[in-house]
Amino acid sequence: MRFAFIKTALGVAAVGGILAAATPALAQFKTVSEMPPKKELSLTPALGWNSWNTFGCDVSDSLIREMADAMVSSGMKDAGYEYVNIDDCWHGGRDEQGNIQVDPQKFPHGMKALADYVHSKGLKIGIYSDAGNKTCAGYPGSRGYEYQDALQYQAWGIDYLKYDWCNTENLNPIGAYTTMGEALAQLDRPILFSLCEWGDNQPWEWGKEIGHSWRTTGDIYNCWDCEHNHGSWSSLGVLPILDKQMKLRKYAGPGHWNDMDMMEIGNGMTEAQDRSHFTLWAVLNSPLIAGNDLRTMSKTTRDILTNREIIAVNQDKLGIQAMRMLATERLNVFAKPLENGEWAFVFLNRSHSTLDLNHDWEYYPLKDDEFGKRIDFDQEKFTWRDLWKGNKGDTLNPLKVKIPPHDVVVLRLTPKA
Ligand code: GLA
Repeated sequence: MRFAFIKTALGVAAVGGILAAATPALAQFKTVSEMPPKKELSLTPALGWNSWNTFGCDVSDSLIREMADAMVSSGMKDAGYEYVNIDDCWHGGRDEQGNIQVDPQKFPHGMKALADYVHSKGLKIGIYSDAGNKTCAGYPGSRGYEYQDALQYQAWGIDYLKYDWCNTENLNPIGAYTTMGEALAQLDRPILFSLCEWGDNQPWEWGKEIGHSWRTTGDIYNCWDCEHNHGSWSSLGVLPILDKQMKLRKYAGPGHWNDMDMMEIGNGMTEAQDRSHFTLWAVLNSPLIAGNDLRTMSKTTRDILTNREIIAVNQDKLGIQAMRMLATERLNVFAKPLENGEWAFVFLNRSHSTLDLNHDWEYYPLKDDEFGKRIDFDQEKFTWRDLWKGNKGDTLNPLKVKIPPHDVVVLRLTPKA
């Protein structure tokens, strides 16, 4: 059976794929309005690993199995990491019926066997596609095959789809992402939908109705404060990505998150920079998707990625992204409301020299108009715990601490009894 168009919430989207006889009939799909994204899949930001930052197109069955093994043996699984995600370049071609195939050299056992392996470790598996005809690396995209690809992912046992935005020149982003979002939402299998539109068309304004997270920027680059020019596009270091998030916090919440991109922890920045990178992604409620080689990472990298107290701040059920309450050239202060009246505070030294912090809490009452939260430190007293060093203190006394260059101090504040 050949079909040409499917009605979507936003008009008519072309879906010119050919359905194989074995493919379940389209009739199984319900009407759009009955099928919003399954928000319960991401009530807190996703935790996982992705192949792209370290391996690029060099993905294979053995690499993914080894990474799943390492996620378990390193303690990452116990710390909450769940998804093992294959990025671009896993694809073969399409068969005569248009069904997407894996590259038989890279994945000789097929995707289903690989998914079964990852599941046998108590983990989940993610895959990558693109809204255009081709992926960014030139492999077949899903345009015109959205429902067919969604069914294939379901048959393979996929749990997460990252959906890219290359080769989409004449496509309307809302329509293109809606088509795939609906295809996934109508499957029996829950598949988390991660929009990778790079923030070009303000996905924070419309992504919530379609999926579970949206990239807010172009690609990350493994540096602190740089922009790496690739000709027609550039990738961004930690601080430039951070600075692009500042007006976006009101759009995020349980089931729909601003995605600051896969992390570069363990890929060459300094320990302080990696610690700050992890902290900032965590308090801004980004999905925490590691991008390093988990098999060979140092203890330092592992300790950063598995800091459970930082992860707990990211996974706090309130789901409110941190606000930047103070921003000077050298010092940024972030505050994130947590459940039960607790708060996370981050003091970030952006500069190249040590910062002598003397923070008198009472000088900085906190007013979060977007989420209606307040702290008047004159009236309310908190104890705090430093989530990297374990020190303790309270807000009755000024916080006096030296913050090394590019490092952070992160405190969890608990109301004093
Ligand atoms: C784009 C995405 C990256 C990665 C590559 C793969 O650049 O933004 O995260 O998926 O494509 O080709």
